[in-house]
Amino acid sequence: MNILLIGRTGQLGHSILKENTVHRIFSPDRTELDIESRKSCQKMIAELCPDVVINTAAFHNVPQCEIEQHRAFKVNCLAVRDLALACKKTGALLITFSTDYVFDGMQNVPYQEDDRTNPLQIYGISKLCGEFAALATAPEHAVVIRTCGLYGLVGASSKGGNFVDQRISDAQNHIQLEMGCDQIISPTYTVDLAKALLKLIEHPGIVPGIYHLVNEGACTWFEFTQAIYELMDINIKLYPVDRGGMSGEMQRPLYSALANTKAGALGITLPHRRDALKCYLAEKYGSVAMK
Ligand SMILES: NC(=O)c1ccc[n+]([C@@H]2O[C@H](COP(=O)([O-])OP(=O)(O)OC[C@H]3O[C@@H](n4cnc5c(N)ncnc54)[C@H](OP(=O)(O)O)[C@@H]3O)[C@@H](O)[C@H]2O)c1
Repeated sequence: MNILLIGRTGQLGHSILKENTVHRIFSPDRTELDIESRKSCQKMIAELCPDVVINTAAFHNVPQCEIEQHRAFKVNCLAVRDLALACKKTGALLITFSTDYVFDGMQNVPYQEDDRTNPLQIYGISKLCGEFAALATAPEHAVVIRTCGLYGLVGASSKGGNFVDQRISDAQNHIQLEMGCDQIISPTYTVDLAKALLKLIEHPGIVPGIYHLVNEGACTWFEFTQAIYELMDINIKLYPVDRGGMSGEMQRPLYSALANTKAGALGITLPHRRDALKCYLAEKYGSVAMK
């Protein structure tokens, strides 16, 4: 297949490029294709005529979305609508990524694809609008993939590196640390997500709509941090802290683990979060550093 990949410098974009062995992927950077420019997206998709467009670009710095609300909707919703329109015109399949933050966190079992959405902050609202925009504009051509707590070999530049690397760096500068025990999430390694995504787009059973793709097993950020330090044999005093999901005045969902129900029905599964973390740490820091 000919694939246009948007977001090559990001965590997920990097993993998709690394894991692909069979498809021809054209992957412009933001200077070559800015999805905020409707004309550029239309022109590139019309000229390349790809079979699949994979959009990993987003404005996903959650607190910053509260401040730059216009930009959040422009990147996370309007640009996705424009991509869907361009894909509909050429017949390409659009794969675009969404988030666990479309849910309000009132459940205590992993969210399935058709569970009720109710985002609590601008980021989640803008991403949910993006889901609707893609699926309403190109119902025959759009696939939305919701995922959660990503960490990849190339860290999210918009967030100053990924969560795992930040905790390892913290341990070099602190003897004790507080970590949130209020949110339950599904941390996901972008290499596993990229592998599952490639399987999904190659699967004859793929149909337009929403899919969840996360590593198996839910935990709090506190428990995830414990696992990082345990596997890396780092000795630091870690204290759980419960902020009720609040960051300032912004509410995050207390529970946003996802269930890969639809991908699972196609036989597409992702490893458990602990195995995923082990693979990440071994790849990034070398097995010598690990227990
Ligand atoms: N990270 C998470 O924890 C998480 C959780 C749930 C869902 N998601 C979703 O998963 C997807 C991938 O996330 P990620 O962590 O891989 O993101 P990331 O590392 O921040 O990468 C984002 C990519 O998008 C590019 N980009 C941003 N704005 C753009 C624009 N206007 N035009 C073209 N390219 C643009 C960035 O380019 P530059 O390098 O030039 O900035 C970068 O390559 C996103 O849809 C995100 O909402 C992420």
